[in-house]
Amino acid sequence: MRMVDLIERKRDGHELTKQEIDYIVEGYTDGSIPDYQMSSLLMAIFFRGMTPRETSDLTLAMVNSGDTIDLSAIEGIKVDKHSTGGVGDTTTIVLAPLVASVGVPVAKLSGRGLGHTGGTVDKFESISGFHVEIENAQFIKQVNEIKVAVTGSTGNLAPADKKMYGLRDVTGTVNSIPLIASSIMSKKIASGSDAIVLDVKVGAGAFMKDINDAKKLAQAMVEIGSNVGRNTMAIISDMNQPLGYAIGNALEVKEAIDTLRGEGPADLHELCITLGSHMVLLAKHADNIDEARQILEEAITSGKALQKFKEFIEAQGGDSSIIDDPSKLPAAKHIIEVKSQEDGYVSKIVADSIGTAAMILGAGRATKESVIDLSVGLVLHKKIGDEVKKGDTLVSIYSNTESVDEVMQRIYESYQISAVKVDYPTLVYAEIH
Ligand code: URA
Ligand code: CA
Repeated sequence: MRMVDLIERKRDGHELTKQEIDYIVEGYTDGSIPDYQMSSLLMAIFFRGMTPRETSDLTLAMVNSGDTIDLSAIEGIKVDKHSTGGVGDTTTIVLAPLVASVGVPVAKLSGRGLGHTGGTVDKFESISGFHVEIENAQFIKQVNEIKVAVTGSTGNLAPADKKMYGLRDVTGTVNSIPLIASSIMSKKIASGSDAIVLDVKVGAGAFMKDINDAKKLAQAMVEIGSNVGRNTMAIISDMNQPLGYAIGNALEVKEAIDTLRGEGPADLHELCITLGSHMVLLAKHADNIDEARQILEEAITSGKALQKFKEFIEAQGGDSSIIDDPSKLPAAKHIIEVKSQEDGYVSKIVADSIGTAAMILGAGRATKESVIDLSVGLVLHKKIGDEVKKGDTLVSIYSNTESVDEVMQRIYESYQISAVKVDYPTLVYAEIH
């Protein structure tokens, strides 16, 4: 086989066979196919697309390029959740203990990552003593015993994807539905869960700006899942404004505690119940979605979910007294209030710009070398649809420096206040099965 022939075939709109896709992915991973040929092929895929069969074969080839995690020693159906990424998405911290508290095993492999805030691992590490460096055997034992564990040692999962994603990033080929779908699903499949719930975000703060693109991406991922024997479903959820109120690491842990107590922001609560109920259903812990929702609501009102969070924190070496006393979490030196300059209704909050404001404060990493400040971030007091009076606090800035002019400027630019009443936005647009 010659790579140049395969590039030409794809360029001319033909379908590649499984053998050809395996040859490409193996060759690119071991270095025998150079970057320039791979970039050319990726650009051909960008324009020509891939059939569902090609997309599934590409996914499996990327899975087979590295380690796969074997979770078969864990009893029950393991369901993973993945979000395509938004601003202030606190759902994983809530969902892990919530779903585990009703008996569904949660074996979470999480990273740090770049972004507006740290990744799930960084957020958990704002709890004093909490660590994710746990041995594989201990990880499995902990899930069997208390139904939930998180590890940061994810091994060498889908190295082909890592190399290809890096190349796509610098060759204008990130934004292709088959390439995004196979990239995300290769990592999820390699991490070993039996079933997958996807939260595909749409809006200004998300990868997908358009609802139809978000649906196509969700459909492509659900199709890959079913082609490779992993029961997969997706919801499409709103990311035109940040989720919940808090954006930051320790601030989001506090928000997760509030939510597990039943006192969290309405949108975060609702999204966690929606995603969680699909996890419960796929794990066969309920007969229908209404029953699954009811089980989770009950876990919150009874205190069972919060109790599970306590147990989970202790099992990972953390100080669980932060649950009753969140003031023990890392705290910023200054809280600076951003006040509304007019009366009206919030009509827009530019999510990605607010996210960048949190990153400027130090809540997230701009590059791999950046050091995160776990204490800083933003807490929104007003969201789209809320009425505001001149002088009301829109946002509290949690900062370790007093000079926050740039951050404040961004917040003012992100908020639009309208004189006429504005509807509350839709949170969940669609379900894809
Ligand atoms: N996230 C991924 O992991 N891969 C993509 O291609 C896009 C987003
Ligand atoms: Ca949040």
